[in-house]
Amino acid sequence: LNNGLAKTPQMGWNSWNFFACNINEAVIKETADALISTGLAKLGYTYVNIDDCWSASKRNSKGDLVPDPKSFPSGIKALADYIHDKGLKLGIYSDAGVFTCQVRPGSLHYENGDAELFASWGVDYLKYDNCYNLGIKPEKRYPPMREALNATGRTIFYSLCEWGVDDPALWAGKVGNSWRTTDDINDTWASMTTIADLNDKWASYAGPGGWNDPDMLEVGNGGMTHQEYRAHFSIWALMKAPLLIGCDVRNMTAETMKILSNGEVIAVNQDPLGIQGRKVFVEGAGNCSQVWAGPLSGNRVVVALWNRCQQAAIITAKWETLGLHQTTSVSVRDLWEHEDVLGNVDTTFGVEVDSHDCKLYVFTPTNTLHVQM
Ligand code: GLA
Repeated sequence: LNNGLAKTPQMGWNSWNFFACNINEAVIKETADALISTGLAKLGYTYVNIDDCWSASKRNSKGDLVPDPKSFPSGIKALADYIHDKGLKLGIYSDAGVFTCQVRPGSLHYENGDAELFASWGVDYLKYDNCYNLGIKPEKRYPPMREALNATGRTIFYSLCEWGVDDPALWAGKVGNSWRTTDDINDTWASMTTIADLNDKWASYAGPGGWNDPDMLEVGNGGMTHQEYRAHFSIWALMKAPLLIGCDVRNMTAETMKILSNGEVIAVNQDPLGIQGRKVFVEGAGNCSQVWAGPLSGNRVVVALWNRCQQAAIITAKWETLGLHQTTSVSVRDLWEHEDVLGNVDTTFGVEVDSHDCKLYVFTPTNTLHVQM
């Protein structure tokens, strides 16, 4: 969507994956405080996004949405002011149907009034869900909210959450700043790997202004190992996915913080070229040894060696699968070890990768500039 936003994938935090409906204004404020105190805000995580369950179960007599008086007694405007004072941005949630997924009022046929209300509160981001949609196609239900947001005169990030229904990559580029390509993620290796593969299919449709959204991060929620979370974060960064933290940032372990705060991996995600990396090579049982790669600015290439096998494996990236010319030499930067691999490398690059781990590198040409992707 050409509204001046999403030049690079959005970064921030969303309440759903960890808190679900157990949210209130204290949690949101403390999360904003934690994004600042941990340094995550400085690294780019600036959207603080409230998901479902912020709203009361009925509209008021004027037909307006009302914040749940028990959990958000001070209202959303006060919360937005608090968030803005910290230099952060506030996101809210509604639904392109008659109810949200947790059966709060939806915005279908209330688009203009709701968009105005959100703008008057100082909202910067809308996640727009797909429940209770009366069987109307998303192509019909999502554009009216784009028009309504646009008419407010406030610049509001528009995140479509249509769960990949009706191949959104084919139509959502003109409608939203990102669109979900899949069903909801859950905090398991099986879900994360399945979603990565589904999102990969739509790589060519992503770019500045509009991104494929394979759903929010589960890093730090406990259902995967450190290596699996490192793979999750590596591949989401390489795929130019939104980096929306989904854990409790007030109580993160050092290991979780180490993953989410890796500035070199974040830089891959936020690279100005904005080309989604993709799965470029597979081998082994069930195609479990994988190379994912994509072009970066400055003729560089990001390369992930992702071991989805049950045991350690040597995974090798060959120049032809990376789009590199056979005569190109590169220097290799390891983004998790934060070190340069010694010497120039040509033709192939292979290392042993632990089961379910993912190595992530940036290759920088040292002689020619033959990047052909
Ligand atoms: C849907 C969305 C999720 C989350 C929940 C909230 O399932 O896909 O991301 O917003 O609704 O109810």
